Amino acid sequence: MTDSTATKRVLSGIQPSGQLHLGNYAGAIRQFVEMQHTHEMYIFVASYHALTSVRDPQTMRQNTRQVVIDYLAFGLDPAKAHIYLQQDVPQVTELAWLLACVCPKHLMDKATSYKDKVDKGIAASIGLYTYPILQAADILSVDPDFVPVGEDQRQHIEITRDLALKFNHAFGTEDDPVFKLPEAMIRADAGVLPGVDGQKMSASYGNFIDPFMAEKPLRKRIMKIVTDSTPVEEAKTPETCTVFQIFRALAGPDDPRTSELAERYRAGGMGYGDAKQALCELILDHFGDARKRREALMDDPGYVDQVLRDGAEAARVKVDEVTSRARAAAGL
Ligand code: ADP
Ligand code: TRP
Repeated sequence: MTDSTATKRVLSGIQPSGQLHLGNYAGAIRQFVEMQHTHEMYIFVASYHALTSVRDPQTMRQNTRQVVIDYLAFGLDPAKAHIYLQQDVPQVTELAWLLACVCPKHLMDKATSYKDKVDKGIAASIGLYTYPILQAADILSVDPDFVPVGEDQRQHIEITRDLALKFNHAFGTEDDPVFKLPEAMIRADAGVLPGVDGQKMSASYGNFIDPFMAEKPLRKRIMKIVTDSTPVEEAKTPETCTVFQIFRALAGPDDPRTSELAERYRAGGMGYGDAKQALCELILDHFGDARKRREALMDDPGYVDQVLRDGAEAARVKVDEVTSRARAAAGL
């Protein structure tokens, strides 16, 4: 176990179930990039999880690859973060079984994501039902201190802590627990980023903004953001406007550009078209380097393969250690 002066360890992942978007960046990836300078990082692609919704192998391969390329483009540095695919560390499925055996059924019954996803049309499989157990296994497999995620993942981290406690209670001792209890790390200022229709931005709602889009379609997309019908001359409320909310999430609440735009809303005389223009410039500026890096990465598959080989190798060392510990504790 790490002592308080040791470098803290972080694990997180994203499902390759669709296109990454500004919501994923604001809620999760931005934290990965910031934390890599001060933490030991394990960042993976949750492909087994995506199998609960993706039914086409070609789509699975493409999306998985794209998440890795986007991680790198957004600024994750393989010299600072272990980047890997879930299927390259299959030990997590064994850990998931060990955890399933101490998981009371009612804990899964009360997980809200299952019902939400079935309501969205995803097949009601046992895999989907036990999704949080596999997520707990991913997390506990590297003894992390922190799990940076978006607000909607809070319950999954609570379930992870519950399962760790139950396993420790069954098979560990107070002085020698099997699993370390991780903490969720959720940015207070991020909240849930809205999409162009004002609902939660999500790959599955078709309302997302892709920061890697070519400039012209990107501008078109941003012009589609739904606003109210306050006339140009009138004063407007920035906080309730989707355009402003996205702007503030990207630039940061304390950035002078954010207060300047808020002022223009309140003063009146600015139409929403101008605010959208400002958001577009911000995105192009904020992701300028990322957009260039992504283009280069798309042309360098060998490099991406190497990153994944190195990442998986490093992850397996740690996951093997934890899995052996859990097996031994359970008498296997
Ligand atoms: P999607 O809803 O597009 O399928 P995921 O559920 O795969 O996105 O989310 C991946 C990560 O991005 C999670 O940590 C999640 O909390 C975060 N995230 C997704 N959408 C948003 C959003 N609109 N605002 C903030 N964070 C988000
Ligand atoms: N459930 C997460 C999501 O939908 C993805 C995920 C799987 C994850 N395993 C994880 C996130 C472990 C953090 C830690 O975004």
